[in-house]
Parts: sequence; C-alpha cells; structure tokens
Amino acid sequence: MDKIIISGGRRLLGEINNSGAKNAALPAIAAALLTKGWNSFANVPNLVDIKTIKKLLASFGVVFKEEQGNLLVNAGDINSCLAAYDLVRTMRASVLVLGPLVARMGEARVSLPGGCAIGARPVNLHIRALQDMGAEVELKDGYVIARARRLRGAVIYFDMVTVTGTENIMMAATLAEGTTLLKNAAREPEVVNLAEILNGMGARITGAGTDVIRIDGVDSLHPTAGKIIADRIEAGTFMIAAGIAGGEVLIRNCQPGHHDALIAKLRDTGMKIETGNDYVRATAAGRPRSVDIKTLAYPGFPTDLQAQFMSLMTVAGGLSVITETIFENRFMHVSELMRLGAEIVIQGGSAIVKGVPVLRGAPVMATDLRASASLILAGLAAEGKTELSRVYHLDRGYERIEEKFSRLGAAIERVKA
Ligand code: EPZ
Repeated sequence: MDKIIISGGRRLLGEINNSGAKNAALPAIAAALLTKGWNSFANVPNLVDIKTIKKLLASFGVVFKEEQGNLLVNAGDINSCLAAYDLVRTMRASVLVLGPLVARMGEARVSLPGGCAIGARPVNLHIRALQDMGAEVELKDGYVIARARRLRGAVIYFDMVTVTGTENIMMAATLAEGTTLLKNAAREPEVVNLAEILNGMGARITGAGTDVIRIDGVDSLHPTAGKIIADRIEAGTFMIAAGIAGGEVLIRNCQPGHHDALIAKLRDTGMKIETGNDYVRATAAGRPRSVDIKTLAYPGFPTDLQAQFMSLMTVAGGLSVITETIFENRFMHVSELMRLGAEIVIQGGSAIVKGVPVLRGAPVMATDLRASASLILAGLAAEGKTELSRVYHLDRGYERIEEKFSRLGAAIERVKA
C-alpha cells in the first residue's frame, strides 16, 4: 500500500486547478441509466470512486468511452439489474443505481452497502420513498430487491436530509406516472447539478436547491451533454491548507458561491479570503484564532470539511468546539491527530480542541476519505516528518493531491509500496 511522506513547516504559495466534484459526477453517471444512447459529461474527475461506478455500470452492460476529456456513457443495452455486493461494498454511493434501475427496468437488485468507517449509513429513507411510489421492496440475502411496473408520483417527506436519498428518488421520479414532491429535500449544489443534467435529458424538475423539489414524470428521457460542477470539498481542503501551513493559495475554476459557510469561518480565524466569479484566494494571517463549528446539511458547514477544519484548530490560539451532527462516528481522525501532538477531548457529538503552538510529525494512518485529508493538512504544519499510510482512502476522492500540494511548495511525496 502506498504511503505519503510530508516534511512539514513549508509555507504554501501558488495556484491549483479545482477538479470536478466526485459527489456530482457519481449521480450524473448513474442518471445515464435512464437513457438510451451516448451521454457526454465534462469535468469528470479522475478518481477511484469514478472507476468503481464505471465498473458497476459496465456489469449491467453500460459502455463508456472518452472523447476530448469528456466521459461518454451509453446505457442503450442493459442486460442486468444486479448490483453485486463485491462492488457495492467498496462504495456506498453505488446505491445511486437503485432509483434509475427501477425506473428504467422495473426492477433492481442492489446489495445493501453495509456501514462504513464514519457510520452505519442506512438507506431506509431511499427504500421508504420507493415504496411510497408503489415499488414492492424486499430485503433478501443482503440485497434490496425493488420492483415496479411503473412508479407512481407521490408526496415524499424525508425524515432526515439525505443527499443521495434525494438524488436517488429524484432520478426515479423522472419516469414515474404523475407528479412527485420531495419535501425536506437536500439542497446541496450536487443535487442542483443533477437536476440540471436530468432536465437536459428531458425531465421536468423544478425547485432543486430548495427543500421542496417537484418532478413531473415523463414517458422517456434522451441522452444529454452535461458539465460536472467543481469539487467544493477539494477547494475547501486547499483553503484550509493555506491557513494551517501559512502562505497564499489561489484556487482556480471553483465556484465561490458554494463556500459561504466555510469562508465565513475561515475569515473568523483571521484568514484573508478573496473571491471572484471562478476563483478563491486564501491567505494565512499567522496563527489562526480558535473558532467553533457545527456541521449541518447545505448550506450549513459541510461535514466533509469537519476533519480538515479540526486540523486547523489543533494549532489555533485557544479552545474550539467542533460538533458533528450528520454522522455518528466521524471523529476517527482525532486519535491520529493526537499522535501529532494535538490536544483534543471528545464529548458526545463534539470534539473540544485546545490549540497547541506546534505539531510534531509522526507515522499516522488514514481511516476514511476526509480524515486522510485532515492528516495531510496537519503534516504540512507539523515539525519533522509525517508518514501517512492507507492512502487508498485518499485516492477515492482527491485527484493526485500530493502533486497539487507539491506544486504549492510543500515537501510531500508518494512512496509506492
Ligand atoms: C453524501 O452521502 C455524500 N456522498 C457524503 O460524502 C456526505 O458526507 C454526505 O452526503 C453528507 O453531506 C455522496 O454524495 C456520494 P446522507 P450520503 O444520506 O448521501 C442518514 C465524501 O466524503 N441517513 O446525506 O450517504 C445517514 O446515516 C462522502 O465524499 C439515514 O439514516 O449521506 C447520515 O447520518 C462521505 N437513512 C445522514 O442521514 C437514509 O436512508 C446524512 O446522510 C439515508 C441517510
């Protein structure tokens, strides 16, 4: 297994190009299942999770090709609707094929994803919504088996805000008989991006980005050419990196409007954040001030940046309270950060971080995608050498992150196992 080695203490200076969003590309690729013919998606990032969903769709008979940097997807001939456990268990987002398969094929057999490091992450809300739309759903041998000759439009109330739940049911509803209303829907930019792509396929969706989404069912959809939005979590990770390592980082091709919560908090730490229509410039201002955060559904502070922000707070000048409200076990990075000298106490759903003047490098282990990013950020600031193992977690969601940090002046390298 590869490792990443960082010699900390270097300030960052320069610019990076924000990649396309993993969490927008995954549902867009799944949406291609609703059409026959070639869809074309621009700005799809080159990530392990993208390779995984391509493998999963290829097992149904979907074909792919690349043209001028775009990913082309053709689901004209689907010969299976079985999403096997060995693929689904490596990526929970595989559940995104459930809605499109039921809508297109009238049947889907999708392995239950199982939990992951950050929590149990059930899919009960996805299943309940499909049942509300008339699907027969049974759980058998670890699989969700859903059938419906044709889904019926319904008023769906999500008990909790669920991003992929909203996306799954929005896709399913595009081909349902009648109108579907999704209430307490997720408002994430990735949901809006998916709605735009589905409307490009001929769907009739309004309200995406608000907590009530209306989908008027149609009889069929056609292929489209769509563009994946910028990855707000990657961009946020680099803004925080400027704060923890010191220096100035310009992030190009990003969408500043997606970062209101993070930018407000980074400014509270004392950083200077300038925004343009497609860039953000993040400049450190010495030792960050301690700031409290609480993760919430969009447009609140994103849970996917909680670990990275915690790294910043480990070297801040005071006490900060970091409250995680979305997942029940998203503090695995805490014990690894403490190996670097951080002082953190977990109390229920909150971590209390007492800033220390300096972190010291040590071998640490990645436990999940965003925790591994937080350990890289801490390594950039730590004195001495930090060695991060299990970087396969990182490769799921970041495109060559060590190359991007290296171009900014960090002393960071990947060591092949
Ligand atoms: C999406 O996961 C993202 N993944 C996650 O990003 C992100 O952390 C999460 O949304 C929250 O923003 C993708 O978009 C592919 P949820 P998702 O359904 O949809 C509970 C990353 O790092 N819940 O919004 O799986 C659930 O347990 C990943 O890129 C149910 O109880 O998250 C959680 O506590 C990590 N039942 C909360 O809701 C359900 O049926 C929010 O989960 C569905 C969800």
